[in-house]
Amino acid sequence: AEYTTILAEARGRVGWITLDRPEALNALNSVLVTELIDAALIFDASSEIGCIVITGSERAFAAGADIKEMADQGYAEMLVGGPFPGWGGFERMRTPVIAAVAGFALGGGCELAMMCDFILAADTAKFGQPEINLGVLPGFGGSQRLPRAIGKAKAAEMVLTGRMMRADEAERSGLVARVIPADEFLADVEHTAATIASKSLPALYAAKDALQAAQEMPLSEGLRFERLAFAAAFATDDQKEGMRAFTEKREPNFTHR
Ligand code: HXC
Repeated sequence: AEYTTILAEARGRVGWITLDRPEALNALNSVLVTELIDAALIFDASSEIGCIVITGSERAFAAGADIKEMADQGYAEMLVGGPFPGWGGFERMRTPVIAAVAGFALGGGCELAMMCDFILAADTAKFGQPEINLGVLPGFGGSQRLPRAIGKAKAAEMVLTGRMMRADEAERSGLVARVIPADEFLADVEHTAATIASKSLPALYAAKDALQAAQEMPLSEGLRFERLAFAAAFATDDQKEGMRAFTEKREPNFTHR
C-alpha cells in the first residue's frame, strides 16, 4: 500500500512501521492513524510476520494527537468520527508489538506506546501526558494504562501536572522494558524483534493473550486462562519440536514461524 505519513516495511519476519511526519514531530492526525492501523493489521494478518515494531524518528516517537486538527472539533464529532474508531482492532492484534521510542512520546504518542506489548526506549526518550496544559485530559487510554503501568501516585502526578519523564525514570517506574543508548538503539530493537519473530507463532499468540489477560482479569480468572492455554500448547507440533530439540541439544525448527 502507498502511505503518506508512515513507512511500512517487512524485514525478514519483522514488520516495521515508522511514523513519518517530521514537520509535526509525528503528531497523530487522522491520516496517520488510519495508515498506522491499516499497516499494522496487514502485518498482523500475515503468518510471515512474527513481531511488529512501531517507531518514529530520533527526535520524536510522536508528540501527541494533532492539536491543530483537533482544536475545532465538537463533542459529537469527537464521539462519532474522532480518533477512536479503529483502535479496537489495533488492540486486538495477535502479533507481539514493540514500541521503539526515541525522543518525545507525549499525549497520544505515549498512549500509542502503552498500547503496544512493551516499550524499548532510547536514552533520549521523554514520556508525558501533557493534555492538562491544553484544557483536556488523556483520550487514548492514558488515564487507564499509565496507572496500571507505573502506579496511581506517579500516574496522577504526570497527568495532573503534565510534566515529562525521562527514560531512566520511565525504566525505574516500569513504563519501559529497557533503556538503550541512542547510537545502539535501532540495532538493539531489530535484534529484540528478530528474537521474538523466530519463535513459534502459536506460542507467541498464546503468550501475548495470557499477558493481556493479566491486565484485564482477576487473578483466579487469569490463572484459569493460563492453565487452559498451556494445556492447549501441547496440541501443537511446535511444542513437540521445541521439547524434542531441547533433549537433542539443537535449535528448534518450528513449523509455524
Ligand atoms: C500538532 C505539533 C504537535 C502536536 C508538535 N507539533 N507537536 N503539531 N500537534 N501534538 C508541531 C509544532 O507545531 C511545530 O510545527 C513542529 O511540530 C515542531 O514543534 P516545536 O514545538 O517547534 O518543537 P520544540 O520547540 O522542540 O517542542 C517540542 C514539544 C512541543 C515539547 C514536543 O512541540 C509540544 O509541546 N508539542 C505538543 C505536545 C502535546 O501537547 N501533546 C499532547 C497533544 S493532545 P510548526 O509548523 O509550528 O513549526 C493528545 C490527546 C490524545 O495527544 C488523545 C487523543 C484523542
